Amino acid sequence: MTNKISLKVAPSILACDFGRLKDEIHAVEQAGADMLHIDVMDGHFVDNITIGPQVVAAVRKYTSMAFDVHLMIEHPKKYLQPFIDAGSNIITVHQEAEKNLDSILATLDASGVKKGVSLRPATHLDELGGRENDFDMILLMTVNPGFGGQSFMAEVLPKIQKLRSYYTGDIEVDGGINAETAHAVIGAGATVLVAGTYIFRSPDYKKAIASLKRS
Ligand code: DX5
Ligand code: ZN
Repeated sequence: MTNKISLKVAPSILACDFGRLKDEIHAVEQAGADMLHIDVMDGHFVDNITIGPQVVAAVRKYTSMAFDVHLMIEHPKKYLQPFIDAGSNIITVHQEAEKNLDSILATLDASGVKKGVSLRPATHLDELGGRENDFDMILLMTVNPGFGGQSFMAEVLPKIQKLRSYYTGDIEVDGGINAETAHAVIGAGATVLVAGTYIFRSPDYKKAIASLKRS
């Protein structure tokens, strides 16, 4: 559990030019990113397929940024170790994909990787079953997971506020984050902003990241 909270920006490589993956990662690192958000999708938990542990391991040697790995996959338990071995620093699993989080927590604890859990916009905070404090970070999705470039769902704001009222760890938000929506989520209590389209489709990554931090 982390108690010292500061605002962090995590560019989502889902929106980058994958043909220039290494250069894109360098560019956001130089531009002031705090960590790199890596979206892993399996075509089952969500309707999209992205990258696996081999790609994470391949880019690990090119950056010292922390890897914030967001697993949007079924059977996350089965794939946890490969993502740990690939050099992830924090791994977030969807509560909807794994009702019994005990063994996930134990595996992450044993490996020293930070622990995250995520909820889709429609999933109630109660589904965490009072286990919030077992996690270093809680990711509240602000779009339905699966694709970048979707519109922010403002109806998630009260959920962020509610979680903030009893949880002292990092609250991450993901989906439709830009300078305007960043202002709203920070006001509600979010401390980690994931942004894909807003950063990677901007002509100046440094300005885009700075504008999120100023929000
Ligand atoms: C969506 C992913 C997000 C996505 C965000 O399922 O989890 O991380 O890349 O993309 P933008 O910032 O474009 O909404
Ligand atoms: Zn994500």
